[in-house]
Amino acid sequence: MRHTKVKDLLNSTTILHEVNAKGWVRTFRNNQFIALNDGSTINNIQCVVDFENTPDETLKRITTGAAISVTGTLVESKGAGQKFEIQVNKLEILGDSDAEKFPIQPKNKPSLDYLRENAHLRVRTNMFGAIMRVRSVLSYAVHSYFQEKGFVYVNTPIITGSDAEGAGEMFKVTALPFDGTPRTEDGKVNYKEDFFGKETNLTVSGQLEGETFAMALGQIYTFGPTFRAENSNTSRHLAEFWMIEPEVAFNDLNDNMDLAEDFIQYVIKYVLDKCPEDLKFLEGRLLDEEKSKPQAERSEMALLDKLNFVLENNFKRVSYTEAIDILRDCTPNKKKKFNYIINEWGADLQSEHERYLVEKHFKCPVILFDYPANIKAFYMRLNEDGKTVRAMDILFPGIGEIVGGSQREERFDVLVEKMKALGIDEEELWWYLDTRRFGSAVHSGFGLGFERLVLFVTGMTNIRDVIPFPRTPMNAEF
Ligand code: 4AD
Ligand code: MG
Repeated sequence: MRHTKVKDLLNSTTILHEVNAKGWVRTFRNNQFIALNDGSTINNIQCVVDFENTPDETLKRITTGAAISVTGTLVESKGAGQKFEIQVNKLEILGDSDAEKFPIQPKNKPSLDYLRENAHLRVRTNMFGAIMRVRSVLSYAVHSYFQEKGFVYVNTPIITGSDAEGAGEMFKVTALPFDGTPRTEDGKVNYKEDFFGKETNLTVSGQLEGETFAMALGQIYTFGPTFRAENSNTSRHLAEFWMIEPEVAFNDLNDNMDLAEDFIQYVIKYVLDKCPEDLKFLEGRLLDEEKSKPQAERSEMALLDKLNFVLENNFKRVSYTEAIDILRDCTPNKKKKFNYIINEWGADLQSEHERYLVEKHFKCPVILFDYPANIKAFYMRLNEDGKTVRAMDILFPGIGEIVGGSQREERFDVLVEKMKALGIDEEELWWYLDTRRFGSAVHSGFGLGFERLVLFVTGMTNIRDVIPFPRTPMNAEF
């Protein structure tokens, strides 16, 4: 007999005879009530066991984590909070789960840290089920947005010879065997004899390759894994994350800001429409977490209000120079200034400054633009003032930077000058420079860190909790 998803059973409009459900036991109460979850929804279905006619041996095997199949009648439930339940006629244990050993017992309220160490099983909790469904719907929303607008989805290389961000935070890739790796005389790996014949790394961004496609297809986007070997153990950084990078020919920086804002609002609206129950559950989780914080640190808005706020309010657009004027000499709270005090124009903002601007000063998402050239990447369009570039960062409450983007330097000579000044090898990027040699034009794009978006939407507070198997300097177990 084909089983029916719990979600469909709970959404049924009538009682049904002979239904079958398969899933995992969350809890088993009074030798009678099973809370069964199959991942199709946050909601468990209550399965009522006829314990008098079920052998003790079987009842003992209905333990948290066990996989079971239940067949019976879908009837209206007298219990609170659910419309239907299954009166079980036949119960089959598909896979036992030793009650003593199953690492995730709801009654123990496992901590997020503990769950992280059990990433293969944490997805069996309601919390992680909700997060992963929301993540999946958000990915679909990303594709839906760009596809509806006629963008071409481009898969840029994972293994690449270029350091798009010039920040040197790359994982080296070598195709050499572990044994017998050719070495130069000073003991270093001899990349000349490598399969790729040169030093290669895992991509830090698909932007440069994406630009070449935008200069032919007009509007493109990438959505793929991205790697940064930055040794920063923060709640906002992963060594492996997913990035969405649209790139559009003939768009200037203002068009780029419009696109980013419209895109973010679209995906948030999409997930609000499609995942109301998961979001409601996550809102409750966040409220619980907030209760353990001092009043002053608690968020003023509940999760759903926060998401709706982003939909209903324009992002505030502020130049770097204006932001510095706000931050200079500013004391974010009565006693203490920032850990890192901004005195001069030209300093890079730390996340404490970004969050101050968003959470305390403007109290809405902020787009900062026109940054000093020397704190941004080589490819950004130099402004007429000769010292700022057409860069933009989007800052979100509770997150800080969620998007980084820019209008690109389309002038061949200016770009080459800039590369020379930064010691970037022209020969290495000959193909990138070709876009400026042949039919160059104004173009712009941005990168949105997908996990930072999922973090914002789910109200989770650590980025390790919104990706199935987090890769951080601490964690590469799975
Ligand atoms: O600001 P970034 O470094 O910009 C770029 O890579 C550009 N090439 C994008 C473009 O213009 N096409 O990174 C973009 C975004 C950040 O704003 C952040 O959301 C995310 O990627 N990000 C990370 N997310 C998680 N873990 C990390 N280590 C991240 N580094 C960046
Ligand atoms: Mg950035």
